[in-house]
Amino acid sequence: MGHLNFLDTTPSLPFLPLFITILVASQIPLGCTREAHSSNFTCIESERQSLLRFKDSLTDESNRLSSWTGGDCCSWKGIGCHRTTGRVVTLDLRNLEQPELYEVYNTSYHCRSCLAGDQLSPSLVNLTNLRYLDLSLNNFSGIQIPTFLGLLKDLRYLNLSDAGFVGEVPHHLGNLSHLRYLDIGFSSSNNIPIDNNLRSNDVGWVARLSSLEYLFLRGVNLSNAGDGFLAVNMLPSLKTLDLESCELVVPHLLHVNFTSLSSLELGSNQFLNPTLPPWLRNLTSLQGLGLFSNNLDDKVHDTFRQMTSLVNLDLGRNHFDTSTLRSICNISSLTSLDMSDNELQGSIPSEIGQFPQLTLLGLSNNRLNDTIPSSLWQLTKLQELYIGENALTGELSEHHFAKLRELKRLYISPNLFSLHVSSSWVPPFQLQYIAMASVKIGPRFPNWLRTQKEIEALNMYNASISDAIPSWFGVLSNDFSAIILSGNKLEGSLNSIISAADADKKVVQMLILLLNDNHFTGSIPEDLCKLKTLIYLDLSDNHLSGRIPLCLGNLRNLRFLRLANNSLYGQIPGSLGNVGELIILQLSKNRFDGKLPPSMQNLKRLQFLDLGENRIAGTIPAWIGERLSDLEFLTLQSNNFHGGISNTLCQLPYLQVLNLAHNDLSGSIPHCFKNFTAMESTKSGTFPFSNESYLDPVLQIFKAGIELEYSKNIDSVKSISLSGNNLVGEIPDEIMGLVGLQTLNLSKNHLNGRIPKNIGNLKQLETLDLSMNELRGEIPPSLSSIYTLSFLNLSYNKLSGPIPSGNQLQTLNDPIYEGNIGLCGKPLLNSCPAGESPTENGPVLDDKGHSESDFSWFYAGFGPGFSVGVVGVVGILQFKKSWRYAVFKCLENAHDRIWVMIVLKTSRLRRNFH
Ligand SMILES: *[C@@H]1O[C@H](CO)[C@@H](O)[C@H](O)[C@H]1NC(C)=O
Ligand SMILES: *[C@@H]1O[C@H](CO)[C@@H](O)[C@H](O)[C@H]1NC(C)=O
Ligand SMILES: *[C@@H]1O[C@H](CO)[C@@H](O)[C@H](O)[C@H]1NC(C)=O
Ligand SMILES: *[C@@H]1O[C@H](CO)[C@@H](O)[C@H](O)[C@H]1NC(C)=O
Ligand SMILES: *[C@@H]1O[C@H](CO)[C@@H](O)[C@H](O)[C@H]1NC(C)=O
Ligand SMILES: *[C@@H]1O[C@H](CO)[C@@H](O)[C@H](O)[C@H]1NC(C)=O
Ligand SMILES: *[C@@H]1O[C@H](CO)[C@@H](O)[C@H](O)[C@H]1NC(C)=O
Repeated sequence: MGHLNFLDTTPSLPFLPLFITILVASQIPLGCTREAHSSNFTCIESERQSLLRFKDSLTDESNRLSSWTGGDCCSWKGIGCHRTTGRVVTLDLRNLEQPELYEVYNTSYHCRSCLAGDQLSPSLVNLTNLRYLDLSLNNFSGIQIPTFLGLLKDLRYLNLSDAGFVGEVPHHLGNLSHLRYLDIGFSSSNNIPIDNNLRSNDVGWVARLSSLEYLFLRGVNLSNAGDGFLAVNMLPSLKTLDLESCELVVPHLLHVNFTSLSSLELGSNQFLNPTLPPWLRNLTSLQGLGLFSNNLDDKVHDTFRQMTSLVNLDLGRNHFDTSTLRSICNISSLTSLDMSDNELQGSIPSEIGQFPQLTLLGLSNNRLNDTIPSSLWQLTKLQELYIGENALTGELSEHHFAKLRELKRLYISPNLFSLHVSSSWVPPFQLQYIAMASVKIGPRFPNWLRTQKEIEALNMYNASISDAIPSWFGVLSNDFSAIILSGNKLEGSLNSIISAADADKKVVQMLILLLNDNHFTGSIPEDLCKLKTLIYLDLSDNHLSGRIPLCLGNLRNLRFLRLANNSLYGQIPGSLGNVGELIILQLSKNRFDGKLPPSMQNLKRLQFLDLGENRIAGTIPAWIGERLSDLEFLTLQSNNFHGGISNTLCQLPYLQVLNLAHNDLSGSIPHCFKNFTAMESTKSGTFPFSNESYLDPVLQIFKAGIELEYSKNIDSVKSISLSGNNLVGEIPDEIMGLVGLQTLNLSKNHLNGRIPKNIGNLKQLETLDLSMNELRGEIPPSLSSIYTLSFLNLSYNKLSGPIPSGNQLQTLNDPIYEGNIGLCGKPLLNSCPAGESPTENGPVLDDKGHSESDFSWFYAGFGPGFSVGVVGVVGILQFKKSWRYAVFKCLENAHDRIWVMIVLKTSRLRRNFH
């Protein structure tokens, strides 16, 4: 799981590659790389031996060091020697091989091109003239930075970033007094999911690196290095300082030493004072400044008015307001400005047009309203425009975009825009990334997309398009990696979007295809199976029919598959069992029949399995409990399952929703339900959505007498529903141990015996439906101590005795208790005979005469009365509506988040889309 988190990390400095080039070229003029090597010397034997010993300490799976044989080590790959002395001066083992993103998504991803090792050989210290050492992007997971590196006194350049080093940074590095460049942070510009996990509790050693010009400590935990920033302030030659995400407290400085800084990255730390520190103004050479996510404002000093050297400015996720933006507008040299996620409000100031060089503008997620000032459309150098998540209005038309020839990334969703362009519009730009969710674009499918040959990712979710997808929009004839067209009224068959003439030749790297909630008809085309790299596929809520193509099992990377709410039929193909990475499988509300294929037991990572409302038959397979041990949500309701509920189900400790309602299940409720430990807890589960940003699956839960759709907060739901089966026997006492349960619905069975006395233990219970069983005896008084209960139905049982007194139970209306002839006392009209103890075998009610429809849940159950639960039908329906809205909204966010993870992998502005 951790594999995915790295995608969320913050961006790298834009100039990083440039620095490296400069250093290689200028700092080591005497060094000679293997390309330049043409002289007569062979390398020094002792150094050769040391290198070989070093090599021996490495694991080199992909044989990257195969050239490390023979006498002349100066010609080995990654080695550079001094032109006249022949001594090794450069050791560059940076791993340049980058996996494709979809590969990393595979949970079993293993970096073969990474050099690895659990102990680096100290023989390196024999390379006494080493000036350049780069071990970055390898996998030395779990080991500490070797202290002996501090002995390489000649080092100018040391790069250990993203190589998996952990623990305390050795202070010995402080001995490298010639060091100009030090990077031990994470760079996030790579796909390999290996980060350093370093800390430094005392950064005094940094202060000794008096020649240092470039320092990257991004992600190194400095939270215990109290005066960390002061140590850095001792370095007068510093040009670049990256302390992003160091958990540092940035102090108030009385005197800045590093006045020659040209790039300063302090994002995601904490400032002693929420106001932008005045010392920033003393950095008169500063070109790049990153202050992302620091809770800063600039209400007092108007700092930026004087920082006219700035070129790149990242102020995202702070509290800056429109007046700060206005003062920034004086910095005409800016080429990139990110003020996303701040407190900008009102109109975008028209001064925004005063940046002739601006290539990137990020203003998303503020409270900007009004129309966009015309000056913005004059920013002719703009390549990336992010203004989504505001309340901007107006009609965008082709003349707005006429001058934006360089535009590559356009993020304008959601706003209150509509986009009106003629069907023959040929935009001046070639976009790679288009996010126009919730922008009114339709009703016609946007023809101008046809001119865009470089699209990687397209999000037109909820864009009011009611049209067929034209044939030119073939997924296979383009280089898309993500298409999101959910929530429109797209019609026709899916063939047009999938098929393409030379599909077989094409290497497609499509990762996301979300076409749910449209009007697509026809069957699922086999060509879909050519999208072998797909990770998310959602075709649910359409009018698709036919069978699931067998070849869908070839999509081995799928983690998320939703085909729910269509008219698909036939058996669920056994080939789906090949999709071993699946985490979410939702096939509910179709017409699938037959038995579940046994191959599904290979879906060991499944956490969410929803097959409800189909016609699936057979017994509930034992392998669900035995093999799918990660399951958190299991929904099989409204199918034709028969037989008993086997004890094997109890092997699912993470289960938090179990819905087997409306089948033909018989036998008794297993006592081992107590093994559902997730339901014993009142804490939310760990459904991956909350951590890993999937698109939410939507799950209907019967709650408070109404079906609610859960999506975003699905992992807070704890529910058991076995309603509408033929279950017999008693309600196991053990269920009363599942104290996190919010819903317990055992209605419409033949359960007998008493209601467990300790039912009052279920303190989270909101919905309790035991109606239409054969339960006897009295209502346990403890029931009245469940204050959260807002829906209760005990009707049509054989309960007897007084209704427990002392709480809301008394204020509820009849239907809850109806059909229990032995009950007496308030709120019923028949009062209990004085002194009569509750009868154990009350009069028996024969409920055979009642048909299902007499007892619809509307009829049974809305009591006007529990303390917080005074909700009438109208109230509940409104509640549901707001839920829908919430679901709707969060789907949209989810889209954006996936977007970020997958598509914006190299964008500096990635974090805008969190
Ligand atoms: C290599 O050595 C030979 C003889 O020692 C000498 O003539 C030649 O110039 C040398 N070449 C280089 C590139 O130094
Ligand atoms: C890195 O190495 C560790 C320890 O050997 C290993 O568990 C992990 O899977 C490796 N990571 C990758 C991405 O190869
Ligand atoms: C350094 O080189 C010397 C001489 O070749 C050798 O004896 C010694 O073991 C080497 N040291 C290391 C740490 O490899
Ligand atoms: C500035 O640098 C000098 C020399 O390194 C040092 O002596 C002085 O203490 C530094 N000043 C501060 C405020 O750190
Ligand atoms: C900034 O520079 C001014 C003069 O240019 C100086 O008086 C002031 O002390 C400096 N502030 C800091 C924090 O270095
Ligand atoms: C725009 O926002 C400003 C500031 O929040 C507010 O005063 C103004 O009424 C808003 N205008 C519109 C049209 O919503
Ligand atoms: C219930 O859990 C216990 C302890 O974890 C285990 O020994 C037992 O086998 C489980 N019962 C079933 C039926 O899985």
